[in-house]
Formats: sequence, C-alpha cells, structure tokens
Amino acid sequence: MDKIKIRGGNQLNGKIHISGAKNAALPLIAASLLTSEPVTLSNMPILSDITSLNNLLLELGTKIEQKEEQKKGHTSETYTYQTRNFTSLVAPYDFVRKMRASYYVLGPVLARTGHVELSLPGGCAIGARPMDIHLNSLEQMGAQIEIKNGYVVADAKKGLKGAHIIFPKASVGATCNILMAATLAKGATIIENAAQEPEIGDLIDLLVKMGAKIEGKNTSVLKIEGVSKLNGAEHTILPDRIEAGSYAIAAAITKGKIELEGAIADHLKAPLNILRAMDIKITEKENSIIVDARNADLQGQDIMTDYYPGFPTDLQAQFMALMTVAGGASMVTENIWENRFMHVPELMRMGANINVHGHASAIVRGVKKLSAAPVMATDLRASFALVLAGLIADGETIVNRVYHLDRGYEKLEEKLKAVGADIERIKEPD
Ligand code: EPZ
Repeated sequence: MDKIKIRGGNQLNGKIHISGAKNAALPLIAASLLTSEPVTLSNMPILSDITSLNNLLLELGTKIEQKEEQKKGHTSETYTYQTRNFTSLVAPYDFVRKMRASYYVLGPVLARTGHVELSLPGGCAIGARPMDIHLNSLEQMGAQIEIKNGYVVADAKKGLKGAHIIFPKASVGATCNILMAATLAKGATIIENAAQEPEIGDLIDLLVKMGAKIEGKNTSVLKIEGVSKLNGAEHTILPDRIEAGSYAIAAAITKGKIELEGAIADHLKAPLNILRAMDIKITEKENSIIVDARNADLQGQDIMTDYYPGFPTDLQAQFMALMTVAGGASMVTENIWENRFMHVPELMRMGANINVHGHASAIVRGVKKLSAAPVMATDLRASFALVLAGLIADGETIVNRVYHLDRGYEKLEEKLKAVGADIERIKEPD
C-alpha cells in the first residue's frame, strides 16, 4: 500500500487548479442511466471513486468512452456514457462495498426499467449511514421494496408515480436519488426539506439539459414533473468546493498564499468566513479565490457542521488540523456524522491538544508546534487533515493508507509539490 512522506516546515505559495467535484460527478454519472442516448461529462476528476462507479456502470451494460483534453495548462478528462440497454439490473456487493455512492444507480435504474437490485452498502468509518430516506421515498412513489440477502430488491412494474415527499433529514444522497427517479415518474413529485448542496444544483442542470422538468433549484423544495423519456446531453462538472477548501487550509496552516484556480467562493461562504475570522485575507475573484495567510495571527474559532449552506462536515477534520496550531481554544461540533473524529487520536500523536466530549464535540487548544509521526486515517477527509498536520510538523511525517486520499484528491502530491511542499509518494506493493 502506498504511503505519503512529508517533511514539514515549508510555506506554500502559488496556484492550485481545482478539479471537478467528486460528489457532483458521482450522481451525474448515475444520471446517464436515465437515457439510452449518450451523456458527455467533462472536467471529470481522475479518482478511484470515479473508476469504481464506472466499473459498476460497465457491469450494468453502459458503454463508456474516455477522452483526455488539455485546457489552460492542465489535463482534464471527458467521459461519454451510453446505456442503450441494460445487461444487468443488479449492483453487486463487491462494487457497492468499494464505493457506497454506488447507491446512486438505485433511482435511475428503477425509474427506467421498473426493477433494480442493489447490495446494501452497510456502515462505514464515519457513521451507520442508513438508506431509509431513499427507500421510504421510493415506496411513496409506488415502488415495492424488499430486503433480501443483503440486497434491496425494488420493483415498479407499472412505473413510478409522483408523490409529495417530506424528507426527515436534508440528505444529499436521497435528494439526488429521488430527484433522478422522479424525472421519469408519472405525474408530479414534490420533495420538501431537500438538500441544497451545489452538487445537487449541478445534477439539476444536467437533468434539465436531458429534458427533465424541475423547479426549485438551490431551494429546499423541489418540484419535478415526470416526463416519458429523457435525451442525451453534454455537461461540465462544477469545481470541487471541498478540494478548494482543503487547499485553502493548506495555505492557512503554512502561513502561505495560494490562489485556488477555478474555485467558486459562493460555494464556500461558511468556511471562508471562518478563515477571515482567523485573520486570513481572502480575495474572491470571478474564477478563483486567493487565500493569503502570510501575515495572519491565527486565532481559534468555533465551528459547527451543518447542512449546506452551513459549515460542511467534509471540511471539519481539515479545520481541526488548522485549529491545533491556532491561538486560544476552538470548539468543533460535528452534527452530520456520528463518528467523524477519528483524526483526533492521530493529531494527538503529533502533539495536538484535543479533548473530545461525547461523540459530537471537541475542544482544541492551540499548541506552538506539531511533531512528525507515522499516522493513518480511516477516511478521506481525515487523511487530508493528517497531510495538513504533516506540512507544518517538525520532521518527517508518513501518512499511511493513501488509498483514502486517492478516492477524493486528484494529483494530491503533484498539486502540493507545485506550491512548495516537500512531499512524495512511496510506492509499495499491496
Ligand atoms: C454525501 O453523503 C457526501 N457523499 C458526503 O461526503 C458528505 O459528508 C455528506 O453528503 C454530507 O454532506 C457524496 O456526495 C458521495 P447524507 P451522503 O445522505 O449523501 C442521514 C466525502 O468525504 N441519513 O446527506 O451519504 C445520515 O446518516 C463524503 O466526500 C439518514 O438518516 O450523506 C447523515 O447523518 C463523506 N437516512 C445525514 O443523513 C438516509 O437514508 C446526512 O447524510 C440517508 C441519510
């Protein structure tokens, strides 16, 4: 298994190009299953989670074409998906266990064919991750659902029908799944308490290009008028706000200055406000964000994760890494996932002073320095938090289990090296 070696202490300065958003790309790929015509997605990030979902689509009968494009000095991938006919309606355990967002095939395949079997993904390191909202909503749309041998078996022989659905929680995954299913249902579907993350707006944009009738983008009430058929479309995936936020923190923690090329400041309001409150200069440009922490006197801030537009849970671990070296105390409260503090013991092994209270809050008291250590994390964002700590720690930090990072950070070492980090990947056989 590969490792990442970081020698801490370098101030990071320069430009980082922000890739296409993983959490937008995944539902957009699944949306291609709603039509027999080609769907072309550009600005696709090269990540193992994308490969995993592509492999599942190949299993279902999708033809995938890939093209590399050179744009403004960086390469970008364009994928065309076409599912004329399904060769299988089963998403097997082996695919779903590798990547839980495989559950995005549920809504589209059921809506188009009237049948789907999806292995239940089970819990993961950050929480139990139930699918009850997805399944209850599909039942309200007339689907018959059974759990058999670890699989969700869903039938809607006469097609799905529109329904008025009120989500108990603003789930991102359920919003995407039900939105996709509703595009081909008979009649109108209303989703109340829908999630409003920018990735959902991106999915709505693609679905509308495919001929779907959707109202309420960027609001918590979505109205979808079902159509009998969708067509192919072309779409550019939006930039990854979590990747941008992660590199903003890399600038902050190393007291450097980084321009995040392509990042959209509007999608990062809550985290950028915290950085500003920490004495960091943020300049919002039309097509980039400049984070300048060269003269910052970093002072701790409280953060509380919430549904968008609240503070994103996917940046909680990275902010906690920053708080470990900020003056005073910071309170970090995790409201979305019940087990998302696994980075804490590893940060403490590097000298951080953190007290976890229950499973939802932690007090971080700033220390003067962190020191390098071999560390490992159990999820993607926690792994990036350890990279951040390694960037400022005295000595050489080894981050193990790099496969977590490969799921969500495209060309991580390349991007950090280009702004001055002393970082390298150590290739090791699995
Ligand atoms: C998405 O997960 C993201 N993943 C996660 O990012 C992110 O942390 C999360 O949204 C919250 O922003 C993808 O987009 C692929 P949810 P998702 O359904 O859709 C509860 C990363 O690091 N819930 O919005 O699975 C659930 O337990 C990943 O990139 C139910 O109770 O999250 C949680 O407490 C990690 N029943 C809350 O809702 C359900 O049926 C929000 O979950 C579904 C969810």
